[in-house]
Amino acid sequence: MNNFTFYSPTCFVFGKDTENEAGAYVKRFGGTRVLLHYGGGSVIRSGLLDRVKASLEKENIPYLELGGVKPNPRSGLVYEGIDLCRKEGVDFILAVGGGSTIDSSKAIAAGTVYDGDFWDFYEGKRIEQALPVGTILTIAAAGSEGSPDSVITREEGMFKRGASGDAIRPKFSILNPALTETLPPYQTAAGITDIIAHLYERYLTNTKEVEVTDRLIEALLLTMVHEGPRVIADPHNYEARANIMWAGMVAHNNTVGVGRSQDWNSHNIEHELSALYDCAHGAGLAVTMPAVFTYVMNHDVMRFAKAAVRVWGQQMDFDHPEVTAKAGIEALRNFLISIGMPKNFEELGAKEEDIPKLVEVLCYGDGRQGSISGFVTLNAEDCTKIYQMMV
Ligand code: NZQ
Ligand code: ZN
Repeated sequence: MNNFTFYSPTCFVFGKDTENEAGAYVKRFGGTRVLLHYGGGSVIRSGLLDRVKASLEKENIPYLELGGVKPNPRSGLVYEGIDLCRKEGVDFILAVGGGSTIDSSKAIAAGTVYDGDFWDFYEGKRIEQALPVGTILTIAAAGSEGSPDSVITREEGMFKRGASGDAIRPKFSILNPALTETLPPYQTAAGITDIIAHLYERYLTNTKEVEVTDRLIEALLLTMVHEGPRVIADPHNYEARANIMWAGMVAHNNTVGVGRSQDWNSHNIEHELSALYDCAHGAGLAVTMPAVFTYVMNHDVMRFAKAAVRVWGQQMDFDHPEVTAKAGIEALRNFLISIGMPKNFEELGAKEEDIPKLVEVLCYGDGRQGSISGFVTLNAEDCTKIYQMMV
């Protein structure tokens, strides 16, 4: 196991009706003037935003509102939010929504106290300072409620990049699984897929003897395989939604990723798809993961075979471990299709003729030197072949 430090100071408030405590938690973490940030309207339609406002009013905390965050959040609204926070003296940002709203909030939080262009952070500068952020999560997916990361799409060129820093880990995150019951089935499934990807991207490691995190990841994957179909069959299954919501947090606050190298090639390859086609990030991952895994499988066939046996219930073929490994990848693909995810470029809305453009931005955009690195290093030729496997 590699050396590591693990700093995860977020206060998690989990369960029914917990959104009504938002105001008290803002106060506890020092907020006196709040920006309420949200998306395209689901939180208005569900009545959640009104309940959150009431909880702020109960604590006599003034607030401003900035809605309109789009899935795959854009840089334009971040600049608008930074201006607003500076002009109005906002000292706390409360995100009410999904990963996109939380990521946009984190970007505003970092940009408001930074004497420069916030995009610097998305070109690799580490975030050292930010306004405090709190979240009220409405979809189990991105894990941004516990992560030190934010992903934003730059409108000039439509490419997507991530920024990191412990300063943007939320001070508190309110997780009420009942709030996810209004999700359309496709978004629920996309969230499940993203959580599975966060687990696989950590499982694919070159670090030896990391049994504790291997086993934790396998347990979480088994949970997703069990609970995913239950929640698709019955969107009001609170217990299944609760298990998925906590799994989504644990999958991505790095509890299960410490002390080991990680992959993230599938995420990087997918980010170009959701940036260009504006598809759901999880849906893009459903098409990306089986292709990437098949392409890199031989780098460590026993690792894929282990997942196949322990997660997907395959029989180990000791003479031909690659057969077992492949069966595990096929089981993953079939699971994702069974919960309603797309299986290829066409179903995702992606176009084969765009592959050179996707590869160019992926491998050479933003200072990259012709390749991406994770479990294996993939150059432009590898990435071209992987995108072609998705057609
Ligand atoms: O905008 P509204 O109207 O709220 O609708 C949203 C949106 O259309 C809707 N929705 C959310 N909760 C709902 C709901 N509709 C009905 N009822 C509810 N309870 O769902 C749609 C998707 O929302 P979004 O916030 O985009 O989903 P998600 O949480 O999957 O976030 C995706 C973004 O997170 C990034 C992705 O790249 C993508 O941009 N990621 C962020 C990470 C991080 N910060 O650590 C890691 C991830 O790997 C990921 O890259
Ligand atoms: Zn993700």
